[in-house]
Amino acid sequence: MVIKDIKIIDILQDGRGVGRTDTKIAFIEKAIFGETCHIKVNNEKKNFYEAEKIKTSKKSPYYRKPPCPYYNECGGCSIMDINYETQIDLKKNLIKNAIEKLANIRIDKIELEKSPEFFYRNKIRLKVDRKGRLAYNKKYSNDLVLIKDCLLARDIIRDNLEEIEKLTMDISQKYPESISEISIRTNNKEIMLNLTINNEKANSYIKKNYINSKFHINLITDNSLANISGKDYLLYKIDKNKFKISLNDFYQVNDFMVDKLYKIAKSNLDKDKKILDLFCGSATSSIAINKDHIIGVEINKNAIKDANENAKLNELNDYKFIAKNANFINQKFIKENNVEAVVLDPPRAGLSKEIIKTISKTNIEKVVYISCNPQTLARDINRFQNNGYKMKNIRAVDMFPQTMHVETILLISRIED
Ligand SMILES: C[S@@+](CC[C@H](N)C(=O)[O-])C[C@H]1O[C@@H](n2cnc3c(N)ncnc32)[C@H](O)[C@@H]1O
Repeated sequence: MVIKDIKIIDILQDGRGVGRTDTKIAFIEKAIFGETCHIKVNNEKKNFYEAEKIKTSKKSPYYRKPPCPYYNECGGCSIMDINYETQIDLKKNLIKNAIEKLANIRIDKIELEKSPEFFYRNKIRLKVDRKGRLAYNKKYSNDLVLIKDCLLARDIIRDNLEEIEKLTMDISQKYPESISEISIRTNNKEIMLNLTINNEKANSYIKKNYINSKFHINLITDNSLANISGKDYLLYKIDKNKFKISLNDFYQVNDFMVDKLYKIAKSNLDKDKKILDLFCGSATSSIAINKDHIIGVEINKNAIKDANENAKLNELNDYKFIAKNANFINQKFIKENNVEAVVLDPPRAGLSKEIIKTISKTNIEKVVYISCNPQTLARDINRFQNNGYKMKNIRAVDMFPQTMHVETILLISRIED
């Protein structure tokens, strides 16, 4: 079924446009925010259509020619075809709408810190085809689009991409389909390559031939991690603090905005209070936000090992890092550890109900929530509201230009009796 002249009024997190037909809402692949277009319905569901654009009938006033030659095919970016000011407005609306709908709070204005638009990512994850060529997944598909550059990556990654592809092609020529993925990380001085490998013989070949590579190289197989060349970690600096980050530790990807993100979080806390940093990773958030007096909890054992090293590296006096699922915390733990405020920075799925219940049963007054997903954030704000807390001081940081992802920071305060 073809429907004509549908105005694109919003963009989903996966980049699809949103339009209203006479009967239903439609989620439309390849549509640009602000344009009017003819669409073909591919799938009719009870409450919505899944569709694709077949023709633009009126151009978007926000349109700009995407500077990346791969943009129309590549699934890495979703809104590079609209100007940056409009990207910012869309993200503000994304946060506002989620919180209004799921937590029933009206937000008139939200401040969103802008980032440099390009060359900001210190990490990119690429697919590798059977010949060893580097690729991203295509939009809305698992097919591959071969790339020779990525405008989101730091220049040091872009400048070395050809050499990195030479390496993956050499390995794949001997052992086709042996590498499925490569993650490329940088601290803007050195480059670390983490190759996902599924062939023992390829492992031996890499060990033999790349031991003296200029890159740090690590091999990841189903059940092991092996360092081949250089180190299995990088050292990063945020403000005056130094951090050791191992190959599979989480680290914020936007070098230009990470300091800003943590400073906003810090501005919500009082000085010298003991914080519980749930989902603390390698303690970058803990140390950047609170400097000292920290209890961190994180599921990744290796990240906790690094957290302890980072505590020493930054001369902390009062700290404890625990390698456990964040759900293990209870009232007794919070009381025994004299926790005075909580910092939460969960993955996209947000918090379990139990964590919110536990916090609300203590005398914690301030909770600082850093979220990369407005939907789960809004759901969790609602749960905090139902347990005696109130949302305050909402701010946002654009850590991911050209995509619909955004980081939100807010203070959740106990309502005074
Ligand atoms: C968004 S990252 C934040 C890390 C850290 N706060 C930072 O800024 O670098 C989320 C972290 O939560 C950890 N994580 C995921 N699920 C967890 C769980 N159930 N319990 C504890 N940590 C978890 C991940 O390993 C990751 O390090």
